[in-house]
Amino acid sequence: MKKVILSGMRPTGRLHLGHWVGALSNWVKLQSEYDCFFMVADWHALMSEYHDPSVVSSSIIDNVADWLCFGIDPKKSVVFVQSELEEHLELYLILSLVTPLGWLSRCPTFKEQVKQLKDKDINTYAFLGYPVLQASDIILYKAHAVPVGEDQLPHLELSREIIRRFHFIYKKEVFRQPQPLLTSASRLLGLDGRKMSKSYDNFIALDEDEDSLKRKITSMITDPERIKKNDRGNPDICNVYSYYGIFAPQKKDEVRNWCTQASRGCKECKLIFAQILNEFIGPRRAKKKELLKKKDYIFDVLAQGKKKAKAVASATLGEAKKAMGL
Ligand code: TRP
Ligand code: SF4
Repeated sequence: MKKVILSGMRPTGRLHLGHWVGALSNWVKLQSEYDCFFMVADWHALMSEYHDPSVVSSSIIDNVADWLCFGIDPKKSVVFVQSELEEHLELYLILSLVTPLGWLSRCPTFKEQVKQLKDKDINTYAFLGYPVLQASDIILYKAHAVPVGEDQLPHLELSREIIRRFHFIYKKEVFRQPQPLLTSASRLLGLDGRKMSKSYDNFIALDEDEDSLKRKITSMITDPERIKKNDRGNPDICNVYSYYGIFAPQKKDEVRNWCTQASRGCKECKLIFAQILNEFIGPRRAKKKELLKKKDYIFDVLAQGKKKAKAVASATLGEAKKAMGL
C-alpha cells in the first residue's frame, strides 16, 4: 500500500515558473511513489480574492490545464476542485468548533499576510480560519504527508494540534497525523531578483509565448559590473546564471566559462537561455492550447477526480461525526 499525499494550489491567476520550481515539479515526481491527491484550493483563493471572484473561477481550468501539461497524470493522481466537495466545508466547521481562537490569531502566517497584503482586505473572519480549512483538506484524505514549502509549516503544525484536540475531546482517534514533506531548497527568483510573484509582475508564465519569453529574459539584470562585452563577469551574482542552474544544470560550467572569460556577452548568454527555456515550455504550451480548445478532457479529469475524492472524503467525514455522536 502506498502512502497518501495531499497538496493544494490556490487558483489566483496564471501559473508561473515559481510554481513549477517550488511545487509542481515536486508533485510530478511524487506521483510514482505515493497515492496523490492534488486539489485546486478555490475556497482558499477566494479568502483573498473575494472582491473579484472571476479571477478565481477563470483560473481553475487554466491552472489544471497547466498541471496536466507539465506532467500531472490523472491515471496516477486524483485531481479535483475543493469547492466541488461540500465535505471540505462541513469538516471545516466541525474543526472550527474545537479550534481555540488564540491559535489562529497567533498564527505567524496570519499576522504576516495581513500586514503584507495591504492592497487586499484580508482582515476577515474567513481568512482567520484559513488554516482550519487547510486542516480539513488534509484530514479528509488521511494524508500521511503534505508537500509544502517552508512558509506553510505553521499551518501543518496547526493541523496537527487541531487533530490532537479533536481526539482528546471526543476520546477517539479517527484522524491521521500528517507529516510535512519539505520541498527541496532550489529557489527561483523573479526577473527583478525579488520573489517571483504575480503581484510584482516579475514572472514567466508556464504558458508564456515565445516572444514575450525572449523579451522578459533579455530584460533581466545581470552582473552590474559587466558593462562592456569584454568585461569579465561573475556568474555567482547573476540571476540568469541561477536560472541556468535550475533549467540547464549541464550547461553551468560552459556558462561560467564564457562569463568569466568574457568570451560571450550577456545578451548572447540570455538569448541562449531563452531558447533553452522555450524548448522546455514550447511543447507544453502547445499541448495546453489544444486542451483548452475543447475542454472536455479537463472536465472529464475533474469529474473522475471528484468521484474518487468524494469516496474517501465522505467516509472520513462520517467517521468524524460518529466519533462526536452526531
Ligand atoms: N495554503 C496552500 C498554499 O497557499 C494551499 C493549500 C490549500 C494546501 N489546502 C492545502 C496545501 C492542503 C497543502 C495541503 O500554497
Ligand atoms: Fe550573467 Fe550570463 Fe552575463 Fe555572466 S554572461 S553575467 S551569467 S548573463
